[in-house]
Amino acid sequence: MRKIAVLTSGGDAPGMNACIRAIVLTAEHFGVQIIGYKHGYNGLLDQEYLPLKARNVANIIQRGGTILRSARCSSFKTEESAKLAAKNLNALGIEALLIIGGDGSFRGACHLAKHWQGQVIGLPGTIDNDIYGTDATIGYHTAIETALDSIDKVRDTADAFERIFLVEVMGRHAGFIGLSAALASASDQVLVPELCTDLNTEVDNIVSHLQAAMNKRGNCSYIIVTAENLWPGGVTNLAQTLHEKTKLECRPVILGHVQRGGSPVSQDRLLATKMGAYAVEQAIAGKTNIMVAEQNNQLLCLPIETSWQQRKTLDPYLVKIQQEFFDITKQAEHVV
Ligand code: F6P
Repeated sequence: MRKIAVLTSGGDAPGMNACIRAIVLTAEHFGVQIIGYKHGYNGLLDQEYLPLKARNVANIIQRGGTILRSARCSSFKTEESAKLAAKNLNALGIEALLIIGGDGSFRGACHLAKHWQGQVIGLPGTIDNDIYGTDATIGYHTAIETALDSIDKVRDTADAFERIFLVEVMGRHAGFIGLSAALASASDQVLVPELCTDLNTEVDNIVSHLQAAMNKRGNCSYIIVTAENLWPGGVTNLAQTLHEKTKLECRPVILGHVQRGGSPVSQDRLLATKMGAYAVEQAIAGKTNIMVAEQNNQLLCLPIETSWQQRKTLDPYLVKIQQEFFDITKQAEHVV
């Protein structure tokens, strides 16, 4: 193995830089050259790349975003684009391509593999944690911390005004950030796609929880964490509906892209470092069409399709705690 290329694709995630650094340093250790493609798959089509050496990755482990930049590349679905990418990779003598991104980026890797003889290896990097087969994705833990920090702050003003707040978090179509941030911030309720099967009854459910909270605690603040892409008309609409039903003040807060930024927490830096080094080792070992993953602190390789062929589920014990033990409508009336 003489030359490996790396790119970051889709939504950036804190820890991507740590991963690039690990890839470069590990490759140098084995005497392998690294090329970094810029702007995701677009760089592969436009031959926008730069050689990466140890000096290029110094002082980046603590930085959010990605030094290679990222992009979504809808045109990469066509046969022509995969063939052009293959031609460009061959022209540079690349033997393996490492893709740090989410399942959309992994689908792109599979598409490329149909037209290219080289090896493709995916490294799960997304704040959403919605990649099946790995316990966590690079960036997920930092996103929870960022959401948590904001919810703690919302709690201060919510308490001062005894208001209801609806805090919308990212996650695409998954509730990993929502559930974790809700539990860690002691939020009163959480609305995520995995747990809200019937939106028609959800408003009544929220109202009955609010009433139970008022009955038990008197006037109080109440924080509901809700996933993006869940509520028709968004969280502002839901806040309005709740206000109309309860006559209580209800404020929406959309956390948005702040959750993608910031310095990665140690869990993400370590996960990114392990996965980056491991991916280089797997490339040198000749593996292809795989994603690297970590399960129970153990690194492993899985077929890359695994990432989207099965839906990753929320931690059932966290769900039980939030939905049963901590549900105000299910708490015992008298505790002796
Ligand atoms: O996949 C990461 C993510 O931040 C999702 O949580 C969110 O739904 C999406 O990307 C937003 O994408 P964009 O920045 O392209 O609007």
